[in-house]
Amino acid sequence: MSEINRVWRLRKRPAGDLGDDVLSLDEEPIPQPSDGEFLFRLNYLSLDPTNRVWMRDEASYLPPVELNAPMRGVVCGTILKSLHPDYTEGTVVTGLGIWADYQIGTPDSVRPMGDTGPISVVDAFSTFAVVGPTAYFGLLDIGQPKAGDTVVVSAAAGAVGSIVGQIAKLKGCKVVGLTGSDGKCDWIRNDLGFDAAINYRTADLPETLAAACPNGIDVYFDSVGGEILDVCLGLMNFKGRVPTCGLISQYNATEPVPGPTNYPKILMQRLRVEGFIVLDYAERYPEAIAALGQWMVAGKIKVRTEIVDGLEEALHALKKLFTGDNVGKLILRVKDI
Ligand SMILES: NC(=O)c1ccc[n+]([C@@H]2O[C@H](COP(=O)([O-])OP(=O)(O)OC[C@H]3O[C@@H](n4cnc5c(N)ncnc54)[C@H](OP(=O)(O)O)[C@@H]3O)[C@@H](O)[C@H]2O)c1
Repeated sequence: MSEINRVWRLRKRPAGDLGDDVLSLDEEPIPQPSDGEFLFRLNYLSLDPTNRVWMRDEASYLPPVELNAPMRGVVCGTILKSLHPDYTEGTVVTGLGIWADYQIGTPDSVRPMGDTGPISVVDAFSTFAVVGPTAYFGLLDIGQPKAGDTVVVSAAAGAVGSIVGQIAKLKGCKVVGLTGSDGKCDWIRNDLGFDAAINYRTADLPETLAAACPNGIDVYFDSVGGEILDVCLGLMNFKGRVPTCGLISQYNATEPVPGPTNYPKILMQRLRVEGFIVLDYAERYPEAIAALGQWMVAGKIKVRTEIVDGLEEALHALKKLFTGDNVGKLILRVKDI
């Protein structure tokens, strides 16, 4: 074990695209656990668009990270030293932590990962910690897809979207994915079984999406907001559902983003547009993990984990989510399990 702890701290509220100066990587002493706590070392860090949301000084579903405080993240680590009777050395834990090599955990912040069976720890962490349950509950609880429905998914080659599309296929839907490159379109169509894929950066989206959805859209799983949401609202069918999962096209905005011009469709088509945060479903995580795990082992759902090595790469890697340079779930690896 090293004598030094490296800790990413928030130094500046970002304005617009993430700059190199918003966080600093500092060398600090390794913290020591008190009674009821344990020390764990970081193995994997989940990089999520919401990390950018937490840096803003705005009310959201969690308090903002304080200036100069360690950056918050979803983590997976191994206990090195424990002063908690139920958490023994060597236990792999996962939950909310910080961007640091070594950190203190409690049962309120992290919980044991448990046996991941035939699924590797890194794939289990990358799929079950955040994005799999998000896709599962957002699509099934809020989207309520029925066989024969047309489901449109944005950020479709990303972590959440790639799983949403595959679950919708399992439910007998026609699935159209929107993503930002031809290579990603090929992947979701050829490897993941989407019926159609559209590169929203190069296509005439209103025209191409209308052609791909001749019967209209029953479920639009929205991860991006902005113009793509507007185009999709314009094609929604009567009683259509729009699970509002994320607004990544707006997270770096410096000015208020105008509302969708197709807003009246919500009234005229009696749409259900419902935001959700996966934490709302914390009690039901085991249900999602069981279903996703079975589908993964049976080969019915494919997950792709994109790994970047080194804690020092965290900020650089996070930017990939906003430029579209990731495919599947982006994970930072500090030390393999
Ligand atoms: N509600 C919840 O509890 C919850 C939980 C997890 C995630 N989310 C949200 O779900 C969304 C996806 O998250 P993720 O973790 O799965 O990330 P991801 O999709 O793996 O990565 C983000 C992707 O968004 C796309 N993107 C970036 N900027 C865009 C823009 N301006 N317009 C359209 N697409 C853009 C990029 O793909 P392209 O190349 O296709 O542009 C990028 O690869 C995010 O909005 C996130 O905040 C919500």
